[in-house]
Amino acid sequence: MRFYASLIPFLTLVTSFTAVGQSTQKTWWKESVFYEIYMPSYADSNGDGYGDFKGMEAKLDHLQKLGVKGIWLTPFLLSPKVDNGYDVASYYDIDPVYGNTDDFKNYVAEAHKRGIKVIMDMVLNHTSTESKWFKEASKGKDNPYRDYYIWRDKPNNWESFFGGPAWQKDPLSGQYYYHKFDVKMADLNWSNPQVVKEVQEALRYWLNLGVDGFRLDVINFLTTESILTDNPVKEGKQEHQYDIDQAGVKDAIQKIRAVVDEYKDRFIVGEIGSDKIDILKQYQSPGLLDVVFNFNFGSIPSFSTKRIYDELQSMENNMPGYPTLFFGSHDMPRIMDRLAGNDPEKALALAALMLTAKGIPFIYYGEEIGMRNTIAKTPEEMRDIQGKTFYKLAIDAGKNPAAALVEGNDHNRDKSRSPMQWDSSPFAGFSTRQSWIPVNSDFDSVNVERLQQAPYSILNGYKQLIALRNSEKALQYGRYKNLQLSNDLLSFERIYKKEKITVVINFGKGMRKIQPGKKLRILYGTDVLVENGVAIYK
Ligand code: GLC
Repeated sequence: MRFYASLIPFLTLVTSFTAVGQSTQKTWWKESVFYEIYMPSYADSNGDGYGDFKGMEAKLDHLQKLGVKGIWLTPFLLSPKVDNGYDVASYYDIDPVYGNTDDFKNYVAEAHKRGIKVIMDMVLNHTSTESKWFKEASKGKDNPYRDYYIWRDKPNNWESFFGGPAWQKDPLSGQYYYHKFDVKMADLNWSNPQVVKEVQEALRYWLNLGVDGFRLDVINFLTTESILTDNPVKEGKQEHQYDIDQAGVKDAIQKIRAVVDEYKDRFIVGEIGSDKIDILKQYQSPGLLDVVFNFNFGSIPSFSTKRIYDELQSMENNMPGYPTLFFGSHDMPRIMDRLAGNDPEKALALAALMLTAKGIPFIYYGEEIGMRNTIAKTPEEMRDIQGKTFYKLAIDAGKNPAAALVEGNDHNRDKSRSPMQWDSSPFAGFSTRQSWIPVNSDFDSVNVERLQQAPYSILNGYKQLIALRNSEKALQYGRYKNLQLSNDLLSFERIYKKEKITVVINFGKGMRKIQPGKKLRILYGTDVLVENGVAIYK
């Protein structure tokens, strides 16, 4: 079963209506399809088993052909990599595993030459305990860096998001320091103006080096005004009520925004650790973040057309401006397993939705070839700190190793972190040796080289859909009309000025006939929709 794609030049304008209330200010990021690169896993140029800048530079042509206009790089700053770079040891130094500052500059310059912007992940909630700041702070209560972190004589009941308590005793002073994540990731004290100043300087450094913006990690976790209040516990589970979204967070974000606004045309997307749209939308406003990662699609655990439709409606009704559109990331299982049942056509139908709906699409590396989950068969195979922590907590709680492995794997984020599959050569063309995390065994058939030669492959489908989104203002800026779901047929119109694009996606089983209207021209797909078929008309 397959559907053909044809881009027919636009001949007849369809409509007689004009759009209302479109105060759409144009900016590059509203017109861009973004692509997330998980740094250790994309392309290794020097055979050490880790991705690096030179490796990524050699693969920029792939991204140009794919049509993406923005790249989000996960953290590449100096780090002991307890959490693969989300534990930053210096805000100025590039981790040698990824290259040096010149490699970074070359990469950005080469991306810019290809019309692709680069945003970097900034982790400002915490630093590694290996950072100079924390090492100094641990020397004693009088150290000038002591107040860069959060210390208490007695811990409260707050728990770490990776499991277990969020406080660690410092043997020297007897005080406890606060860590929302791993014990080796200490939370910064954002009520200390010196911390704010240091962070602002670091942001300027990278903006001066040419980054086009930032993805701000867990940015609604920054401040801790309610530190005297315990979190409520319901049915044995802690609710993260007082440790996130605190009174000072917006003020802190404003201070970040102010620095970014010293530069022209830069973009900030914030990761807001919350699935409550009321909370999320508060941060997406002028003076704060351009967009936030709203986990509408991202948190769908298994496939349901109704759920997808509801989430689309919810984004439309609740998110001001532009929502972000993504099904996967380095923290979630891959779309292919979670939602598409290992059916590349279904994965492409989901991609069609992501690339035609209203919002900013973020593709996670490997989605364009239909990469699958990787599952640890033993605890030793687990690389992710979250998976390892939950495994250990389960063992400590008396579970048997098999049950603990299940528990660990439930939380293990390695699933979506296996090396990018470039070709059929040993190690999938990612590296010349065994990588930090094993390559998926299907790499011989699922890889870029092979799929680009197959006209109806998922990869070529992604290319066509992205090309369409890049060329059609209605897909970038259009408002919705007639967003509806009928018998697993999801459809909507995007309207911009005098243009109208109609999108129809068949998530159901079997053939469906549709009558798009005489004056409509097909841009992509078939006029009779097969299962998981997509039709896009103008
Ligand atoms: C974010 C990142 C995740 C990381 C955590 C702590 O949620 O996406 O990978 O572990 O922050 O920095």
